[in-house]
Amino acid sequence: MRRPLENVEIFKKRREAVLKKLNNSALVIASHPEMIRNHDVHFPYRQDSNLYYLTGFEEPESVLILKPGSFPESVLFVRKKNVERETWDGFRYGPDMAQEVFQVDKCFPIEEFHDQFPKLLKGYESIYYRLLKNPEFDKQFLAALDALRLSTPRSGFGLLPIHDADVFMGEFRLYKSGPEISNQRRACQISAEGHKLAMKSVKPGMSERQVQALMTYYYLNQGSAREGYHPIVAAGNNATTLHYNFNDQVCKDGELLLIDSGTEFNYYTGDITRTFPINGHFTNVQAQVYQHVLDVEKEIISELKPGIFFKDLQEKGASLVTDVMLELGLLSGRKEDIISSNAHRKYYPHGIGHWLGLDVHDAGLYFVNGQPRPIESGMCFTIEPGLYVPESDKQAPVEYRGIGIRIEDNILITADGHEVLTADAPKEIKDIENCMAG
Ligand code: GLY
Ligand code: MN
Ligand code: MN
Repeated sequence: MRRPLENVEIFKKRREAVLKKLNNSALVIASHPEMIRNHDVHFPYRQDSNLYYLTGFEEPESVLILKPGSFPESVLFVRKKNVERETWDGFRYGPDMAQEVFQVDKCFPIEEFHDQFPKLLKGYESIYYRLLKNPEFDKQFLAALDALRLSTPRSGFGLLPIHDADVFMGEFRLYKSGPEISNQRRACQISAEGHKLAMKSVKPGMSERQVQALMTYYYLNQGSAREGYHPIVAAGNNATTLHYNFNDQVCKDGELLLIDSGTEFNYYTGDITRTFPINGHFTNVQAQVYQHVLDVEKEIISELKPGIFFKDLQEKGASLVTDVMLELGLLSGRKEDIISSNAHRKYYPHGIGHWLGLDVHDAGLYFVNGQPRPIESGMCFTIEPGLYVPESDKQAPVEYRGIGIRIEDNILITADGHEVLTADAPKEIKDIENCMAG
């Protein structure tokens, strides 16, 4: 038997909190689709983040329904036990054991979803469901919705209105408490140690992939099930490609290496970027540009506390990085004009950060009813300013061409300020050089 990763009481409490907010609506959350190539080769499975958040249940082909006010309030559809399939693919709980272990009110075999759905959902005003996440299951969901409609003929009701379950769930997932913060902290610590290992190990002549391999080995060896996203290991000019992920080039003497890598712990992921010299010593020019980006990052982080707005951080990031561009002679003119015309996006084309948690770009709105949302205690997010000057940019001063720098940390907002969860990954120039010297 595969045991739940965490105490199932945690998930039960989360379901109770969600049930309280559903009023007369129901919530339907489907598992993530399985990845099978050529109908034959299976890839490692990761549960849908919302389904994990509310159940701890890790199997594919499962669906959770939460429906307040009438028993059963929590219903989980799961695969049946199957001796033959379990011989090939491994353990599955089956409805009886799943009901007992995960403490949901009722479990059914997934094959019964279509027949049970109209009975379970009768009388509810609307449904929270996320379309287009699991397109195969969408078809079953819509067919079951139609069966529900047909089961109430001439009632005057049409199809139940559908609201986006991800937006709804984001309001819960945005606020991290006890066990979530422990998981988030551990994910960040392991990720930070992975970055330190990369700093200590890289040598000119190694391939980007060899550096990636060391980090992945470290993460899994620390009990991480998988990385939170495909890492970027980008030497020299490769770092100026934002989503570079070939990771197949050589790390050359004299170049910088940008690594954006984070690993999971109990489904929560870290998301760290560090940029450091492959030979262990920044050149004067590299140090000059790096220090500018680091100063921006630290200035923004120094202001983080409850009550500030993410939108203001975005604007401040753009403003400070544009100051750097002006200082380095990458752009000229009035700062306000540069920003209003988006000219700064030539060298800083992304945002200052994003919510972080079960997903690297975690659930949660940045604006609510058109208004920017204030940052509150318990929220986690990244701060990640960068500056990228492609080698091919003939307008840039020649000494800066081919330099791409990003520095990314993970932040927890506390009652009176913030905590940098990724502080163990060195980022001051002297700390990086000391770490790399062993
Ligand atoms: N690693 C993904 C990101 O930084 O947003
Ligand atoms: Mn990020
Ligand atoms: Mn990142």
